[in-house]
Amino acid sequence: MRELQTYSNIVVLTGAGISAESGLKTFRDNDGLWEGHRVEDVATPEAFLRSPATVHRFYNMRRQQLIKEAEPNAAHAALAKFEEQFQGQYLLVTQNVDDLHERAGSKKLIHMHGELRKAWCTCCDETFTWEKELTTETGCPSCDQSGYMRPNIVWFGEIPYQIDEIQTRLLECDLFVSIGTSGNVYPAAGFVQFARSTGADTLELNLEPSLGNQHFLVSVQGKATDLVPQYFKL
Ligand code: APR
Repeated sequence: MRELQTYSNIVVLTGAGISAESGLKTFRDNDGLWEGHRVEDVATPEAFLRSPATVHRFYNMRRQQLIKEAEPNAAHAALAKFEEQFQGQYLLVTQNVDDLHERAGSKKLIHMHGELRKAWCTCCDETFTWEKELTTETGCPSCDQSGYMRPNIVWFGEIPYQIDEIQTRLLECDLFVSIGTSGNVYPAAGFVQFARSTGADTLELNLEPSLGNQHFLVSVQGKATDLVPQYFKL
């Protein structure tokens, strides 16, 4: 594996593992429960139809935790600094709905699973920066209708944001790096194969081997705050 600065076009994918050391729980390391909830009860369109108040409560708590308790860590900071100094093309794609990458200074960033600090009105299709609680009665600041606001989160069974742009960039890159993701959820779990199909080198940095571990040219196990600053330096 060459030094990162010798590549000309890098795509990085991050998952919950990069924010774990900022105090945000990952999804699959607690008997399959996410903060005490089954993912199907809080992170699907069906759950929102069935029990919108429960889903709102869950994301309200996640949003407050993110705003009040979480800070970017050394891994987020290393990626932001790398982006600033790297001469080639660079794109960071995150599955995380937290805003720790942008708080650390990352700019070229796609939130493929949405953003906790945004709300979406499904009546007029506007999205808004959102710090407060959302409820079933919350009115839309734009169209004024109540009952249509939801967290701007891509739930299971929904199509991730900017997937065409991501796929184009994966086919163009000469290095794909996956950080802190278990490889359980598609399409992100398939990005490594996309990048490899046009000859890119592929690197995985994760606490443990991911499900798609065998597709990576190099796979290194360790904590994100140790490995990311080590690899992403110029
Ligand atoms: N450093 C590096 N990796 C870590 C660390 C750490 N400190 N702590 C945990 N990990 C790794 C775990 O070993 C695991 O492989 O992070 C991964 C987290 O996996 P998941 O909990 O499955 O999270 P992720 O892969 O991001 O989930 C993908 O699934 O629930 C949906 O939409 C949600 O975006 C999420 C998607």
